[in-house]
Amino acid sequence: MSDTVAGIWQALEKLEKPTLGTLFADPARVADWSTRLDLPGGAIRFDWSKTHLNAAHAAQFDALADAVGFKVKRGAMFAGEVINVTEHRAVEHTALRGIGRDTSVEEATALHLRMKSLVEAIHAGALGEVKHLIHIGIGGSALGPALAIDALTRDGAKVDVQIVSNIDGCALEAAFAKCDPATTLIAVASKTFTTTETMTNADSALNWLRENGVGDPYGRVVALTASPDKAVDWGVDETRVLPFPESVGGRYSLWSSIGFPVALALGWDDFAEFLEGAAAMDRHFLESDGLANLPLRAAYADLYYARLRGCQTRACFAYDERLRLLPSYLQQLEMESNGKSVKADGSPVDGPTAPITWGGVGTDAQHAVFQLLHQGTNLVPVDFIAAIIPGDSLDPAHHRNLLANCFAQGAALMAGKEAKDGARAYPGDRPSATILCEDLNPATLGALIAFHEHRTFANAVLMEINAFDQFGVELGKEIAKSILGGGTKFDASTEALLAEAGIK
Ligand code: F6P
Repeated sequence: MSDTVAGIWQALEKLEKPTLGTLFADPARVADWSTRLDLPGGAIRFDWSKTHLNAAHAAQFDALADAVGFKVKRGAMFAGEVINVTEHRAVEHTALRGIGRDTSVEEATALHLRMKSLVEAIHAGALGEVKHLIHIGIGGSALGPALAIDALTRDGAKVDVQIVSNIDGCALEAAFAKCDPATTLIAVASKTFTTTETMTNADSALNWLRENGVGDPYGRVVALTASPDKAVDWGVDETRVLPFPESVGGRYSLWSSIGFPVALALGWDDFAEFLEGAAAMDRHFLESDGLANLPLRAAYADLYYARLRGCQTRACFAYDERLRLLPSYLQQLEMESNGKSVKADGSPVDGPTAPITWGGVGTDAQHAVFQLLHQGTNLVPVDFIAAIIPGDSLDPAHHRNLLANCFAQGAALMAGKEAKDGARAYPGDRPSATILCEDLNPATLGALIAFHEHRTFANAVLMEINAFDQFGVELGKEIAKSILGGGTKFDASTEALLAEAGIK
């Protein structure tokens, strides 16, 4: 850690820890810490007023951003420089939204045109009647499409999409049960086109087609990958391989051909709006600084809680059924990106890195886990996310109630309540942030996801770690391969489990 960075962290630690009550004594608190961003698809209000950050913290975090070269590193990402140093790669998911190095944006535009042609050809019947798509992928090749499709196709989809990720055959069988083989396409989504779960499920899906009378199963497959040669070698016709660049990380790949099922379900125009919403957030992130930069502001709060208040988790509750998959999407984004113990230069980190991201959907979670948020011994910063326009057409009482509950929880966490009986007392002074969308639609969902991508990147830059590798996932995969290959001796517990299950 440089002396400057160390000095800033010491200064941050020495700052007084104000209560939310004290901060709210300032009549400008809400105006200063909430921002309404006009975006394609509607405004989104980002309210960070119920966090403990004050101007003194912000000044130190601004100094930290300067000391670690935040602006230079942000510029380097958008310029397509090699910022994923451990894998020697550029990081260019924003180019897929039209913001980035010119050559990368041109390449992304060409790849999108190819994807659009295939989507429109399928809609026009070029592959016969297509009622279902079984999208096979895992991690970043599944969580994004699952979230976007679940959020945006409540009123119906042009093609029914089943997303299958787990190697547990129960997952694929459940998808088969919902599909008619004669009218089903298979999308094999894998950046590397080597992932065991995906390739095993893809083989089984082809067998299912074959066994159910489909003469040319490979003719029903679309490949979504950064390794197009491998897809062709596996048997997919080149015309149905939709490539994406190596410089797009798996958990950032929803904007690439990995978004094919989203475009097929929604139609191209909606997918283009999704990209445009994300691009608007890219512009905001690129063009604003300090507290005015919303992902950076959120990262200041994240670091404040993780490093200065000892919070080991951060929770996200979507008060919108359509966003029920957002917490699991964010888990991969944040934990796979920033769950690290070394900095980009290989030296040990200066303090805790990514907290555990968890969450759920409101109001359900209120009746399950909110007890701990209000009265438990762990301090958990919470994000609430909601939309003003309802997604349903039932009695407006549903949505009024939903939003009232969302805002009530933030208010209750902050205010607390005194009681003579300790069991009934709420300590209060518990932080939350609220993201309130005017509407939830392709553009605002795109912006929301891009906000979280940039928040994750900003956290990584401030901690001086590389957000874009994920070596921590490898060891378990290697051991599983070794087990299946009849490999070496393991610890006694593992050996006993393998023996009892009859695997070895
Ligand atoms: O094992 C982790 C991981 O590499 C993720 O980073 C990635 O999103 C997922 O596996 C799937 O990888 P692929 O798209 O190459 O199949």
